[in-house]
Amino acid sequence: MSRVVITGGAGFIGSRAVVKFLEQDYSVDVVDDFSTGDMESLPAHPRLRVFRHDVSVEEGLEEFVNGADAVVHLAAVSSVPACEKDVKRAFEVNVRGVENLAKACSRAGVERIVFSSTAAVYACGNLLSETSPTNPVSVYGNTKLVAEEMLRCLSEQENLCTTVLRIFNVYGRVRPGRGVYGVVDQFIADALSKGCLKVFGDGSQVRDFIHVDDVAEAVFRAVVNAAGGHQVFNIGSGQGISVADLALLIQASIPARKIEVINLPARPADIRYSVADVSKAFKHLGFKPRFNLKTYIEQRTRGW
Ligand SMILES: NC(=O)c1ccc[n+]([C@@H]2O[C@H](COP(=O)([O-])OP(=O)(O)OC[C@H]3O[C@@H](n4cnc5c(N)ncnc54)[C@H](O)[C@@H]3O)[C@@H](O)[C@H]2O)c1
Repeated sequence: MSRVVITGGAGFIGSRAVVKFLEQDYSVDVVDDFSTGDMESLPAHPRLRVFRHDVSVEEGLEEFVNGADAVVHLAAVSSVPACEKDVKRAFEVNVRGVENLAKACSRAGVERIVFSSTAAVYACGNLLSETSPTNPVSVYGNTKLVAEEMLRCLSEQENLCTTVLRIFNVYGRVRPGRGVYGVVDQFIADALSKGCLKVFGDGSQVRDFIHVDDVAEAVFRAVVNAAGGHQVFNIGSGQGISVADLALLIQASIPARKIEVINLPARPADIRYSVADVSKAFKHLGFKPRFNLKTYIEQRTRGW
């Protein structure tokens, strides 16, 4: 039986990745400090163990990863505003945490690491490929790019197989009572509860939205299929939609109610265009997104 350690496994993406690995008969160990994740997101399962630990603390990490076939490193200060607010902590967790974990893996003889990076490492662009220029504008994007570079160096030095997933904008239902993640689910929640949608600027900014279970599938495939050395993959849907069109989709899916769109001032650091070329992940990981954004919105707004 295979065993995987998932840091940040109690979070939005992590909790779905945990389920994916359990379904595939893995034993799963979650390492999480529960700063944004919660225990209730995780299933009770005989092959799941959960440990509370802060990845910015090196001591103790080696014991967690010892004997694992792979480590999926998702733990991070994952919110852009939280990183802007506390830059030191953002680097401690998002950069030092990655170094701590990679070194623990090296000492414990765990060769395979999958790391969740972000589309925020790129400059603006349509159909961004993994070789497109990087130019993060946020603290969050900068921490992830530094962490990527560090993993690339450590992969050579320590002979690790490091796979970086540059994840685009994730949507997907989380359990009731938990906060919503990302603009898609925020719009749905606001449309249903308040009858309005708040759009930054004119809404012409274009994004690539991917369902959380597609991301979990990509993480699984990265563990199973990644070749050796250091590899970078975009994980998105490959489809762009403007925020204004997203608002229209949501309005159209609730025809019985007038949903007002409120335009707020544009955010200075908002990237205009960010859409993934996902051909590399398809070619090397066999990854193809299954979920459709329009269908998801229609199901969610009908109360599913
Ligand atoms: N959600 C997205 O749209 C998106 C897009 C691109 C990349 N990502 C990346 O994917 C990963 C998961 O994101 P998410 O959306 O699930 O966020 P999340 O905040 O729901 O999950 C992060 C998890 O990491 C844990 N964590 C935070 N700091 C920790 C620390 N110091 N030690 C141990 N655990 C810690 C949190 O408690 C939480 O369970 C992150 O690395 C994030 O940067 C997310």
